[in-house]
Amino acid sequence: MEDTTKLNKSKLGTKEYWDEFYALEKNNFENNPEDTGECWFDDNDAEAKMVSFLEDNIGMHHIEHGCSICDLGTGNGHLLFELVESGFNGPMLGVDYSEQSIEFAKEVAQTKGLPVEFSAKDIFDEFWTPSKFDLVLDKGTLDAIALSGLTRENGKSLVELYSQVVEKLLVKGGVFLITSCNFTESELIKIIQTENLKVWNKINYPSFSFGGVQGTAICSIAFVKLS
Ligand SMILES: C[S@@+](CC[C@H](N)C(=O)[O-])C[C@H]1O[C@@H](n2cnc3c(N)ncnc32)[C@H](O)[C@@H]1O
Repeated sequence: MEDTTKLNKSKLGTKEYWDEFYALEKNNFENNPEDTGECWFDDNDAEAKMVSFLEDNIGMHHIEHGCSICDLGTGNGHLLFELVESGFNGPMLGVDYSEQSIEFAKEVAQTKGLPVEFSAKDIFDEFWTPSKFDLVLDKGTLDAIALSGLTRENGKSLVELYSQVVEKLLVKGGVFLITSCNFTESELIKIIQTENLKVWNKINYPSFSFGGVQGTAICSIAFVKLS
């Protein structure tokens, strides 16, 4: 049976694509400070739903307004800025391997006076050892990673190594919330769930029926690190 967790390669899986993308967004912002860039999965209201989900689950596991948050593949940092606007006030770090993205996100944070840190890092860099976080977020980043088709020396794909990155970053009892448009719920669980990282909750999106199959265009799942 075909392994549906493997996607074909695409330019959206290359750093060059994202560098160019965020250089353009930065330029647009400099010409129009209202233009803070693309909000990925906006059609599905994913960002607002992720923020509401976290608000609704304050007090569960480590989710608190003051909890520490890391956004993997933060892009223009929009999700973290929305969390600040919504009342989250703990230490926040946005990480992205595109230096252009980080420059842009830092510029928006500075212009708007938003207290969010950004750092240019490849999340698979084994020498990257930041502190641990209560909450780790991903909106569209695993999707982009899967389109890179990249593997490591041991032959493992970045998708196969992804849950190790998440586990490394989370405190015990911490939550990982991911939104994907490329993987179904069951595929995401297959990729991310481990002995120590278990499905906890999910966000509901309107579903459609096609060819007798029920599905959603997008899915968001929350996992908890047990120990
Ligand atoms: C689809 S965009 C989503 C951006 C952002 N999360 C959002 O919702 O707007 C995917 C992001 O993942 C970043 N990315 C891809 N591979 C990465 C890696 N190995 N390490 C860090 N960031 C990565 C890209 O630079 C890009 O900003």
